[in-house]
Amino acid sequence: MANLHEYRPGGDPRTLRDALGCFATGVTVVTCRDGEDVPHGLTVNSFTSVSLDPPLLLVCLAKPTTSAKPLVEAEHFAINVLQTEQRPASITFATRGNDRFGETQWEEGEHGAPLLTGSLAMFECDRHAVHDGGDHWILIGEVKRARFEKGPDPLLYYQGRYRRLHFD
Ligand SMILES: Cc1cc2nc3c(=O)[nH]c(=O)nc-3n(C[C@H](O)[C@H](O)[C@H](O)COP(=O)(O)O)c2cc1C
Repeated sequence: MANLHEYRPGGDPRTLRDALGCFATGVTVVTCRDGEDVPHGLTVNSFTSVSLDPPLLLVCLAKPTTSAKPLVEAEHFAINVLQTEQRPASITFATRGNDRFGETQWEEGEHGAPLLTGSLAMFECDRHAVHDGGDHWILIGEVKRARFEKGPDPLLYYQGRYRRLHFD
């Protein structure tokens, strides 16, 4: 039991983050364009499928990020599911002070949201709803187009580090 850690409200937020980090995820880059046509995007692993009929999915966006406001205000956004070779893009879109869309290859989706070239899957969405989720916004999108490639391995994230599949 020496390795068992415990968090309770008021305790060390790092312990809560570490507990949440026990849930292995994929990695996405969520993108949109604002009213002046400027592209925005950030790395997100809080992506979850919500509903098949209607087709809904969600991401949780930290309110202090610069991308959160344009994303919750945009009528359309896109979710790019990354493959292992896109680890540099994941780092770029999670780091402040660089030219994210200058350093990454992308093309425009049907409603203008940037689609990163080589992504494993791409979901182009209309904004369906935005809910308050504490220090995050819960952005729910309705899928208007989904495309994916069979073959490449997904980029994974677990306990604060990038991982890849190794189980057959
Ligand atoms: C693997 C990974 C997953 C992340 N997931 C989220 C997430 O789900 N929601 C979020 O708001 N930020 C997430 N982040 C952090 C943002 O990508 C990071 O804060 C980014 O710099 C925000 O950019 P901005 O302030 O320019 O919008 C994640 C970062 C990494 C590396």
